[in-house]
Amino acid sequence: MSKISEKLRYVGVNDLKKTAFEGMWPLPYGVSYNSYLILDGKTALIDTAEADFATEYMDNIRKELGDRKVDYLIVNHMEPDHSSLMKVIRETWPEVTIVANAKTVPMIKGYYGICDNVHIVKEGDSISLGASSLTFHMTPMVHWPETMMTYFDEEKTLFSGDAFGTFGALEGGVTDSVVRLHGSDVPTGNAFHAFADEMRRYYSNIVGKYGQTVQAALKKLSGLEISRICSTHGPVWEKNIPEVVSCYDRLSRYEGEKGVCIAYASMYGNTAKAAESLASELEKRGVPYAVHDLCTEHVSYAYRDAFKYDTLVVGAPTYNNDIFPPAYNFMYGIAARLMKNRRFAAFGSFTWAGASVKLLNGMASGLGFELLSDGLSFPQAFTPEKCDMGALADTIASQVTE
Ligand code: FEO
Repeated sequence: MSKISEKLRYVGVNDLKKTAFEGMWPLPYGVSYNSYLILDGKTALIDTAEADFATEYMDNIRKELGDRKVDYLIVNHMEPDHSSLMKVIRETWPEVTIVANAKTVPMIKGYYGICDNVHIVKEGDSISLGASSLTFHMTPMVHWPETMMTYFDEEKTLFSGDAFGTFGALEGGVTDSVVRLHGSDVPTGNAFHAFADEMRRYYSNIVGKYGQTVQAALKKLSGLEISRICSTHGPVWEKNIPEVVSCYDRLSRYEGEKGVCIAYASMYGNTAKAAESLASELEKRGVPYAVHDLCTEHVSYAYRDAFKYDTLVVGAPTYNNDIFPPAYNFMYGIAARLMKNRRFAAFGSFTWAGASVKLLNGMASGLGFELLSDGLSFPQAFTPEKCDMGALADTIASQVTE
């Protein structure tokens, strides 16, 4: 499992215990914290792993190192899921040189109290490991300000930090030709297909706000010949590089596929019936869609499909003359992710005065979304006569088949 090439070893760990990444995002398939060891004249460790996995992680390193020591620790990213074991590495091999950029240095001191033997690198700097070298590329805000990527020239391998990462623990190996997504029944050999939904959910919830800086990083890296991508989460990409880069490129340009994300919240089931009616009308017209109940499902799935599809339809009843809070919170998150380029429609029930649809339209207009209709605001119980989802589905179908 650990040998990627003669000089490159995987020393990361799977986390199948944690239920919520960053304390918020469900992990139905687990997650991996990837770390890599390069064995050349000198040895270099790329990032570390989460604190709870110290024993397993150190065993993985020792198994590959034998009686050698770690000469360099490369810090691509300081988020604690990758940096937590830095102090253990320094205590185990006191002479290790920590390689980091200037923005990383105060974070290393602040988190771990380490100030000495830190080698500061900037854009384009390299260090030699003997026969091979590592070159550093600054990629700020992918996904923190200090993030950088490391290029292992001899093997045209990019250590990309969180970029090209995905939720989901690794089973059966680490490279995309052999790995399986833990808990999934997608067979070996189809890693991109197996991980695509969790990659979108990871991107939209963790990196989603940073489309512009992901685009800047993709542009900067476009001149590099890349045969292998080693991210901090998920498979090592070799075979599926075009699909993975294209997925991140599309997501970071906020370019949705043809289709509809229906996200709704309902108090007594009437707005839910309207959502079901729209789904059924889209089905009849062959329009791809996904439906998410914001009251019962984790919102990360709705964000995933809001990024996936080019049309967003949000349903909420009126509550205290405002938008029912689960739908308001969802729209707040859409705005926080700087979402762009969406067609939009709103619907929802009210009892004595309708406000939610108008307010949802206002939020969508503020984001520059194209409104497909004035919205469907209906009093009391849902009926197809009061809320004609067929007409909205016709409008959507005519646009998605353009
Ligand atoms: Fe997996 Fe931004 O850390």
